[in-house]
Amino acid sequence: MKVFTTIAEVPLPTVRRALVPTMGALHEGHLSLVRRAKELGQEVAVSIFVNPTQFGPNEDYLRYPRPLERDLELCEREGVDFVFAPSVEEMYSPSPAKVQVPLVTDEFEGKLRPGHFDGVATVVAKLFGILRPDVAVFGLKDLQQCAVIQKLVNDLNLRVELAFEPTLREDSGLARSSRNVYLSDEERKVSAQIYQSLQKCRLAVLEDRNAEETIQEEISSLEAVGFKVQYLEWIDRSTFHSTRTNKENGAIVFAGYLGNTRLIDNILITA
Ligand code: PAF
Repeated sequence: MKVFTTIAEVPLPTVRRALVPTMGALHEGHLSLVRRAKELGQEVAVSIFVNPTQFGPNEDYLRYPRPLERDLELCEREGVDFVFAPSVEEMYSPSPAKVQVPLVTDEFEGKLRPGHFDGVATVVAKLFGILRPDVAVFGLKDLQQCAVIQKLVNDLNLRVELAFEPTLREDSGLARSSRNVYLSDEERKVSAQIYQSLQKCRLAVLEDRNAEETIQEEISSLEAVGFKVQYLEWIDRSTFHSTRTNKENGAIVFAGYLGNTRLIDNILITA
């Protein structure tokens, strides 16, 4: 497996190239994306870059885990062809251009983390420009990010196919995330309730019960076990605004803090 740290080293694709963009600290969720990439492309590239422009000033950029050696071993073991792991200086000039994706960034993560999706859209556009993938694989765990990237590709006519893959969960239902390492054993147990609440809300929507009431009940029960809920809401995936009608393209999305750890999760209404 090759490891490139500069843009100049990255070869143009000669076979169908599948890319898995990551910020490292790889876990089973990422590895499932790599396995999907192997099915979709003849060559698999993984990018590992903790992108500073998608972190807010009070977020965890500095303490974000960076176990590069281990990540490279995991990629090697999965049969990845090459890893692109650039420095911040390699990726950003002093006054870099940036990409903004409107509408789907209005609410939720876009509102709570100003500038976050500008950072994501910009780095993803750059990675597509540098690595020229035929197909790129992302996890549905970051559902709003998927909507942003889909709109980025559509609106800028980027010639890359996108594959969005289901969230990998622990036995408890907790979604796999690099940030789970911040959780204590007790917090891990409590976190299992997120998925239970998502499932209850989804069922209420599917069974035409009062979704509003169920959502409020689930917010209360999450708060009762210690969550500071930022949102639990039924959204339309095409606009990423709240909905009370769209089941077909709908999802329930959650974000909240448990102690100092911010967790997000979601469930599609119709999978
Ligand atoms: O999902 C992530 O890990 C990041 O947001 C991404 C897509 C790699 C961009 O930095």
